[in-house]
Amino acid sequence: MIRTFAQQDVEDLAKYGSIPIINGLTDYCHPCQVLADLMTIREYKGSLKGLKLCFVGDGNNMANSLIVGGIKVGMEVAVACPDNYRPDEKIVRWAQENGKLTVTSDLKEAAANADVLYTDVWASMGQEGEKAEREKAFAGYCIDAELMKAAKPDAMVLHCLPAHRGEEITEEVLEAHAGEIFDEAENRLHAQKAVLVKLLK
Ligand code: NVA
Repeated sequence: MIRTFAQQDVEDLAKYGSIPIINGLTDYCHPCQVLADLMTIREYKGSLKGLKLCFVGDGNNMANSLIVGGIKVGMEVAVACPDNYRPDEKIVRWAQENGKLTVTSDLKEAAANADVLYTDVWASMGQEGEKAEREKAFAGYCIDAELMKAAKPDAMVLHCLPAHRGEEITEEVLEAHAGEIFDEAENRLHAQKAVLVKLLK
């Protein structure tokens, strides 16, 4: 299992290695986290197909993997992000050919009727130096009580953690949905055990 920055490092290991390689996180994607996220959504909602997942914030590794994972299980995915921070264009094209994906800078449009709202930090690991410029770019890209009104009344909220209260999510929303978010964190363990079992056969 490799957790790193450059996706190419994972690709190289997989190409030249003789054993299965697990992507534990790169700047490009975070598939292990999304397995835990989907497990949590299924736990709470009973199924996945037909649900709407809305991601708010940076079109980063989480956005990329949520798009791929969500579309693969038959969810509708909507991403609200600033124009300069869109998810990977190749992934966007793939998703639009294989399911329903919207990418918009309009938070309310993305959150409309959503079953799940998801967000992640504005500055990911390795982007600490961009903190000030990102705070400007992402101002308002926040899951707050007002945005929750656009989603379904029983919408759940997920966050891959650590959360920055008052930035991408308000304290109020985080606390109201802490049960789901901490179950999501716990499910990292169970989902990753499943990956190992599958690869070990
Ligand atoms: N986008 C975040 C995800 C952490 C789980 C990061 O890469 O730091």
